[in-house]
Amino acid sequence: MNEINMKHIPRHVAIIMDGNGRWAQKHKLPRSAGHQQGVEAIRDVIKKASQLKIQVITLYAFSTENWKRPEEEVSFLMKLLVEYLKKEIEELHKQNVMIRTIGDLSAFPERIQREIDKAKEKTAGNNGLIMNIGLNYGARNEIVRALKRIAENYKEQTIAFDDLTEEMIGSYLDTSGLPDPDLLIRTSGEKRISNFLLWQIAYAELYFTDVLWPEFRGEDLVEAIVDYQLRQRRFGGLS
Ligand code: IPE
Ligand code: IPE
Ligand code: MG
Repeated sequence: MNEINMKHIPRHVAIIMDGNGRWAQKHKLPRSAGHQQGVEAIRDVIKKASQLKIQVITLYAFSTENWKRPEEEVSFLMKLLVEYLKKEIEELHKQNVMIRTIGDLSAFPERIQREIDKAKEKTAGNNGLIMNIGLNYGARNEIVRALKRIAENYKEQTIAFDDLTEEMIGSYLDTSGLPDPDLLIRTSGEKRISNFLLWQIAYAELYFTDVLWPEFRGEDLVEAIVDYQLRQRRFGGLS
């Protein structure tokens, strides 16, 4: 912890939590055990992120492409999500965490939507860390949904042609009101974005680690932030 500069903490850290299946394989366990173990990583990372006073952590939990997986795995992930929300909500609430989601929740069974709504409502008044969970999230899908609403509002004349700006588009995305990610972390050694936050990561610093998500801990988050703090962000200007 001693290398970290507390005056230069990223406001928003986005994480592609990858490698659950490979962790399970490594331990000769079913893929579901990898997902289960991934929850430990979430718990530890949220605790550390709160301590570091990060404003927003966005976790990619289920992508619009993950429906392609065997039904058995998809339903296990749903079950795990509901269990997580039920089991952890009190602790998250105590930690002053506010739960938000990005992604199209309408594709989920109602029971699951209700559980997510409950967690959001319970934590809506909290002003600590925002835990933003990507559920049935795909950046292209998010952009399509935003464009449809923009087109609708234009047709209804609640917005005008000249209102269309970068800020305005940002306000129609699921991340409306949140700062753009400063740091994007992907675990498991894969070096791709997989349809995550395409608009919002325009100037994020990218950090790839070989650590598999179930083994990722608060100290790995610290390591990523220390690396981030060594970068020079120029945003196209001169330093
Ligand atoms: C990430 O781990 C979790 C989800 C995508 C839900 P994976 O399940 O993708 O793990 P690997 O990539 O197969 O190791
Ligand atoms: C990205 O991981 C999605 C999540 C972490 C939820 P995947 O394992 O689904 O991505 P690909 O298939 O390697 O691109
Ligand atoms: Mg994967």
